[in-house]
Amino acid sequence: MFVVVGVTGGIAAYKTVHLVRRLIGEGHEVHVVPTEDALRFVGKPTWEAISRNPVTTSVHEDVATVRHVSLGQRADLVIVAPATANTLAKMAAGLADDLLGTTLLATTAPVVVAPAMHTEMWRHLATQENMRVLRSRGVHVVGPADGPLTGGDSGPGRMSEPDEIADAALAVVTAAEPGRAQDLAGLRVVVSAGGTREPLDPVRFLGNRSSGRQGVALAVAAADRGAEVTLVAAHIDGEVLGGLSDRVRVVSVGTALEMRDAVTDAASVADVVVMAAAVADYRPAAVAESKLTKETQGDRLTLELVENPDIVAGLAAGRMPGQTIVAFAAETSSGDELLERARRKRERKDVDLLVVNEVGWTRGFESADNEVVVIDRSGEVAAQASGSKREVADAVWDAVVTARR
Ligand code: CTP
Repeated sequence: MFVVVGVTGGIAAYKTVHLVRRLIGEGHEVHVVPTEDALRFVGKPTWEAISRNPVTTSVHEDVATVRHVSLGQRADLVIVAPATANTLAKMAAGLADDLLGTTLLATTAPVVVAPAMHTEMWRHLATQENMRVLRSRGVHVVGPADGPLTGGDSGPGRMSEPDEIADAALAVVTAAEPGRAQDLAGLRVVVSAGGTREPLDPVRFLGNRSSGRQGVALAVAAADRGAEVTLVAAHIDGEVLGGLSDRVRVVSVGTALEMRDAVTDAASVADVVVMAAAVADYRPAAVAESKLTKETQGDRLTLELVENPDIVAGLAAGRMPGQTIVAFAAETSSGDELLERARRKRERKDVDLLVVNEVGWTRGFESADNEVVVIDRSGEVAAQASGSKREVADAVWDAVVTARR
């Protein structure tokens, strides 16, 4: 999803950093639009680094891309957090003297505001009248919460917690898409994500570059669409996992064998299993009890590896009637060769769907975006998707829904 986060000049802006990180963690593309005053609280480098997108406050920068309206036009969701009394007044009046103002006027997406100000300002009739106007225009309001304020006083005016704002904002969008909102309701799904690590000795392992972002986006999308979700997570950063709400059960594992046990256990009662994890194909034949040292190994070290069980192939071979098994494949080939490899892999593993993406030294990892092709049992391309990891996740679930019909 394309999310614009407007940040206005309040101390609570520092909490919005967590909101942006959570949205990124769930695979959304986030563009932060601060006001000039907001930059006095949290600077531009912070917003650019965490959103991985350029940040400007002015309508006179990046004019060639018509940025003053394009962000609003492209947005699927606009969140303003914190929303100061001043910004809420400007919104009610439709003022557009900065990039946030023009963006808000140019958008038809749901708008969610999280007010933050002192109690007196919140209770002032001018603010309350502005809130009434905004609500009557369909703006969603989260908070403010009641509690300690910056001046040492206490009362309504605190910005709601970032997770609460994210949950409410994402629920607004889900509710706005009734067509596909709950098409996984009643289904139990298992998603594996991250990368396994195979220990060599107490301090070293063989691992891979998977961040788990795509798998987390799949889990969140499934929960949003009504499924009961178990995520089997291998070495996923707290920052990425932090995006998960309590609607997803998380089981943490380390090695391929641990992943097999956890996934097999969860799959025994699941309708759909999606193996998005990067599982090590091989593990060291023996794990050294103590650290391997140069003293004992000399100038050459040979590792003997043994094959790990193919978890997804095992699940497919023992699948229950009506169970859908989905595998992923990251390939370094491209074009027709990529598709041919994908078809062969789907057949070899006997899975219902295979989601393939192209990877390389500089492609496919640590980015918010992804590009995939989904192959079905007939070997046909069932879906093609590119965009944020959430968009790709929704395309995969669309293909699962079609395959189960
Ligand atoms: N997978 C698995 N168990 C393994 C290895 C991989 O379940 N031991 C799953 C992954 O979760 C993913 C798919 O299989 O869904 C990826 O398989 P991949 O490693 O690409 O296939 P391989 O059969 O190992 O083929 P290759 O030789 O191309 O690596």
